[in-house]
Amino acid sequence: MHFLSRDLEDYIAQNSEAESELLQRLTRETHLKVLRPRMITGHHQGRVLSLLSRLVQPKSILEIGTYTGYSALCLAEGLQPEGELHTIDQNPELEQIQRRFIGESPYADAIHCHTGDALEVLSSLEMTFDLAFIDAEKKEYPQYFEAVLPKIRKGGLILLDNVLWSGKVVEPLKTGDKVTPILQDLNQRLARDPRVRTVLLPIRDGLTVCTVC
Ligand SMILES: C[S@@+](CC[C@H](N)C(=O)[O-])C[C@H]1O[C@@H](n2cnc3c(N)ncnc32)[C@H](O)[C@@H]1O
Repeated sequence: MHFLSRDLEDYIAQNSEAESELLQRLTRETHLKVLRPRMITGHHQGRVLSLLSRLVQPKSILEIGTYTGYSALCLAEGLQPEGELHTIDQNPELEQIQRRFIGESPYADAIHCHTGDALEVLSSLEMTFDLAFIDAEKKEYPQYFEAVLPKIRKGGLILLDNVLWSGKVVEPLKTGDKVTPILQDLNQRLARDPRVRTVLLPIRDGLTVCTVC
């Protein structure tokens, strides 16, 4: 979803750090060869993820929703030298493109791709994380958040993508829309949840940033 004019979006991207050549190629190939390419994180949001990760300097990152690996590669830019990123996606058809582009990156040894249902894989990961990015099935965001929270160290970050849901969170609810009420309820609850400090940023389709208390 684009809340800003195309001109302003282009201006913002042009006046932010450039995307690497690898990320540009991954975007091109995703659009050419993968279904639903609008799911890929774009240039500007990718730079925001990279910046947040560089500020946290995480030893360990968790991502739910790898898709073709764009956001994982951006988040990995902030990893400490011996750090690791675990990313989960249920779609095995994405493995090949993930492996190829992550393999070409400087983070080939640091990024671990898990194929399977997010909640199942997450329960098998017995470790804590400094930063988590939630970007998979929107209906399951409340469950992801509750499963992720105990695994994040105090002061760590949890990021949630698409929380404005193309603006539907402030529009009259359409018949049969089961996702929007879930996101509306989660957004309201996170703003008041004493376990986290929450800011909803109007970046792309909405990015919530929670720091864990
Ligand atoms: C919006 S895309 C992720 C985009 C990616 N973070 C990026 O920036 O390029 C959402 C992904 O979540 C995955 N997904 C959906 N439901 C899932 C589940 N229950 N467990 C694991 N992955 C899931 C989909 O297969 C899809 O690849």
